[in-house]
Amino acid sequence: MTRKLIAGNWKMNGSLADNEALLRAVLAGLPAAPAADVAVCVPAPYLAQVQALCQGTALAWGAQDVSAHERGAYTGEVSAAMLRDFGCRYVIVGHSERRQYHGESDEAVAAKAQRALAAGITPIVCVGETEAQRDAGQTEAVVKRQLAAVIHTVGHCVSEIVVAYEPVWAIGTGKTATPEQAQAVHAVLRAQIKAATPQAARVKLLYGGSMNPANAAALLAQPDIDGGLIGGASLKAEEFLRIVRAAV
Ligand code: PGA
Repeated sequence: MTRKLIAGNWKMNGSLADNEALLRAVLAGLPAAPAADVAVCVPAPYLAQVQALCQGTALAWGAQDVSAHERGAYTGEVSAAMLRDFGCRYVIVGHSERRQYHGESDEAVAAKAQRALAAGITPIVCVGETEAQRDAGQTEAVVKRQLAAVIHTVGHCVSEIVVAYEPVWAIGTGKTATPEQAQAVHAVLRAQIKAATPQAARVKLLYGGSMNPANAAALLAQPDIDGGLIGGASLKAEEFLRIVRAAV
């Protein structure tokens, strides 16, 4: 079994003062050698602050998006090399909020994953179905299509990515997928990765969507759930730490 990964997704929350208080509280509660890998994915303007506070600790950090382009005339975008300059170990790509509000296609998400890998940053590739797609019985087809685009683009490097299954209907809603529902999708994703690389067992498959201290242990006990991508609960140090402690 791979080491689990608990990654916070702060989304568009925080301030210099709030971030410092949150990170100091998380760092104070984190063991020197946690049983799981732990990270926070923060808004890009705060990367320097987070790097300064977390360097040399057990808490890694990352960003929430990256440009599909290497450099140049792309006003407002942030490149993978820039994220690398600030010590990012991870970057979330293809979060459903970006697919939905910024029209990111499967191909764009795949290009972003590729850029991250080329810069030595682990992309956390998000996939997941909407409630309507689930109701229509399309869950498997949707997540497989989303992941297939990434596998097609990155090839054998798929062994270097992290995948986060985040059912859109569970994000920020308090409606968590049951451990069985999540495991069923994770098994599909694992099989798809197995078909692409002999290293499939080392690819971490995270669950995300209203994961909290009360439901984390049961989700993380599933055979193909290797960690969590935590939104709301990552903004509260004690809740985030309790989820980290559930990841053994
Ligand atoms: P949530 O968000 O934990 O607040 O549901 C998860 C995510 O969107 O990554």
